[in-house]
Amino acid sequence: LHDQEIIVVSNREPYLHERDGDRIVVRRPASGLVTAIEPVMRACSGTWIAHGSGSADRESVDDHDRVRVPPGEEDYTLRRLWLTEDEEQGYYYGFANEGVWPLCHAAHVRPVFRESDWRRYRAVNRRFAEAVVVEARSEDPVVLMQDYHFALLPAMLRELLPRATIITFWHIPWPSPESFGICPWSQELLRGMLGSTILGFHTKHHCRNFMETVDRQLEARIEHEHDTISHEGKETLIESYPISIEWPSPEVCAAWPAAKLCRERVFARFGLRSDARLAAGVDRFDYTKGILERLHAVERMLEKYPEWTGRFGFVQIAAPTRSALEEYRAFQARIESVTERINTRFGREDYRPVHLVAEHHDQDALIELYRAADACVVTSLHDGMNLVSKEFVAARDDERGVLVLSRYAGAAREMTEALIVNPYHVEETADALQRAITMPAEEQRVRMASLRDTVREYNVYRWAGRMLSDAARVRVRERIAD
Ligand code: G6P
Repeated sequence: LHDQEIIVVSNREPYLHERDGDRIVVRRPASGLVTAIEPVMRACSGTWIAHGSGSADRESVDDHDRVRVPPGEEDYTLRRLWLTEDEEQGYYYGFANEGVWPLCHAAHVRPVFRESDWRRYRAVNRRFAEAVVVEARSEDPVVLMQDYHFALLPAMLRELLPRATIITFWHIPWPSPESFGICPWSQELLRGMLGSTILGFHTKHHCRNFMETVDRQLEARIEHEHDTISHEGKETLIESYPISIEWPSPEVCAAWPAAKLCRERVFARFGLRSDARLAAGVDRFDYTKGILERLHAVERMLEKYPEWTGRFGFVQIAAPTRSALEEYRAFQARIESVTERINTRFGREDYRPVHLVAEHHDQDALIELYRAADACVVTSLHDGMNLVSKEFVAARDDERGVLVLSRYAGAAREMTEALIVNPYHVEETADALQRAITMPAEEQRVRMASLRDTVREYNVYRWAGRMLSDAARVRVRERIAD
């Protein structure tokens, strides 16, 4: 696919221009999707189409709603698409985040399906399909569709640009056929997705769930031998591509402050004694991330191992997300009140065990925290992959620190040297925390070195490379058949 035109479509944009007094600042959003795709786009150029959602986004584009990014480097084009409030409400908050998000994540939050949201979702998918046609310079671009915001887009685009190679990547889990079947428009969603040339998930398990769902709901031919589905004369390859991060270059690592310095700064910020142990969680403030279960585990650990009171800090960074939705606001309020309860129970005048920071942090601040921590705790109740776990090990070039990882995150399939936990099992997670903060240095080193080898090797370029080379193979086959 060398020299091939690449177009990415996602809801979330990689750079937001925000107004800050009389200045315009550029912000990177908290999104695993953006973390993964951005380095790929920097490497292969092309156009990224996304919803323009920053407060100064409109002031920062040209007459065609385009802006070159990253600022100062300008490797690729960001084409912004504007949504009305109604569109954003129905398509993004409503159908995507109150419907499909809880439908696909087993976090016991009930999906809400409204006819009006569905109509908006369809209309916005159509608008993005039209934007792809406007941006495409050839009749056969490679279009990388991202995530559950755009299940209908592949089939819509297939009609408009029949020769396009459409790669759809579903960044969240795919549930069982029974779970998915409750969606009133499940067949429409499946038909939409089957407009793709390639449909990628993080794990084989999600691929199998998808194929079984199609098997029950549509008249389609499923070839298990080749992992393909034929539907209405079109074949789609269903494949697993575990997503990852860009592995930091030696120059990037050399610019990081020493782990010792990071520790001093973070300990000073949170008022921890120099001999204390620090565990950290970094998430969007989302009910799928298991933040409540994590707090219960911290509380249980302090109860069970009282020697840590005064000598243990847990820092939870929680980037606000989707807070226009009641479910998210209620979740945040619940976490705040549990944090307060734990701090009242175990805190003292000059000591608080739990520090909840509900703010967006930039990459440098996160690196500092990762490098300072004795343990990073990822206890998602259900997660497509989870890139925090990979970013944590990438930040630990000192080969120290322990990853505690939920078995329900896609990352647990690759990162087997982490301490793997069932986040619903409070006792088990509390014991894993205790084990993490008391682990001998040599064991930390062996586990961390092995985790680092895995993530270095299976980095995001390999993820994209595998998908693009599968696409190139399919393209050659299609051209021969033409
Ligand atoms: C998950 C989704 C992404 C999304 C991100 C942040 O990682 O898979 O598509 O961008 O959450 O959520 P937000 O709604 O803020 O874009």
